[in-house]
Amino acid sequence: MPAPTDKLFTYTEGYFLTKSLLALWRLGLLGDADISIDPDKVAADLGCDARLLRATLDYLIIRDVFVKDDGGLYRLSEHGRELAPYYGYLPMHVGAYEPIFGRYEEVLRGDLVYGRNLRRAEHELVGGMSAMEEHLLAHLTGLMDQMSFTGVLDLGCGSGRMLSQVLRRGPDLRGVGVDQAEQACEKARHNLAAEGLAGRTTILHGDASRLTELPAEVLEQVDLVIAMFVMHEIHWQRSREGVISCLRSIADVIGADGRFLMVEVSRIAAEKPRPGLRFIPEYQLVHEYSHQRLATEQEWRDMLGEAGLQVLRTEPAGMCEAFCFVIGAQTTT
Ligand SMILES: C[S@@+](CC[C@H](N)C(=O)[O-])C[C@H]1O[C@@H](n2cnc3c(N)ncnc32)[C@H](O)[C@@H]1O
Repeated sequence: MPAPTDKLFTYTEGYFLTKSLLALWRLGLLGDADISIDPDKVAADLGCDARLLRATLDYLIIRDVFVKDDGGLYRLSEHGRELAPYYGYLPMHVGAYEPIFGRYEEVLRGDLVYGRNLRRAEHELVGGMSAMEEHLLAHLTGLMDQMSFTGVLDLGCGSGRMLSQVLRRGPDLRGVGVDQAEQACEKARHNLAAEGLAGRTTILHGDASRLTELPAEVLEQVDLVIAMFVMHEIHWQRSREGVISCLRSIADVIGADGRFLMVEVSRIAAEKPRPGLRFIPEYQLVHEYSHQRLATEQEWRDMLGEAGLQVLRTEPAGMCEAFCFVIGAQTTT
């Protein structure tokens, strides 16, 4: 029988491992699977305390993330290397929400209120997602290879990387990105220009849930709409009715033959313990604390149905345990 403390110590282990790895990520020491770290040199370069950096790396040897070679350099262990493509989860899932969970009790008491005097750290979110986007984008662009379209609209386009990935498929494709964060729009414009795609894209600073307020001419050619990790934000902002009205506008934009790709993480009900379930309960918790409202797959299907849309296929999205709905107009048989 394992001691009762065994389980508790796995929680504390997770905490210290996560904090240590996140610190290395932020210092730029986790991005490269082949990194070799000379603690004295790195500490001098980065202005860190060499003794403490060594203590962290030694701790991570015990936890099988690093190994030390004969020359005293620290490298990722085999296990640490396996994790390398996914370290972006650390800033995306934990770092971005540290402003909230670092002050948990004050938030619970209402001394700090999300949106008023507290926000998640967007740069950590974007940094983590960008580091992992290869996985996500590879899955989604694979799905799009089976579709034909001429114009793509990305709702909540963030840094615009999805748009640039899609537009690279063909010289005649055109793209529109909408984001309510001016910073994201600037980043998207910058990234698309750097890829030589500025002439084929329009980035609009606006509310993706109010498509009818966007200039009609930019939506004319759109026959593919993408919404990655944004509908649950709109769900909070505009509630269920607002989501349905947004989905109706999407249905109008794609018409009878266009497609809508929606990437979301399914909400789970807190009815019973779910011991083997990774990631989603924590993902759900951070969303509750940051003005976002997840829904179950069935709840999304119901909302889509009310808006005249239907799910044609469901695929894993390749990141965040998310699913991707391939959606089209309802057909009458
Ligand atoms: C989690 S990020 C996802 C970004 C991008 N789709 C991706 O998957 O990398 C959500 C984005 O949606 C934007 N957003 C949230 N609500 C929005 C709204 N009502 N209209 C436009 N953009 C919105 C946020 O500013 C943010 O850039």
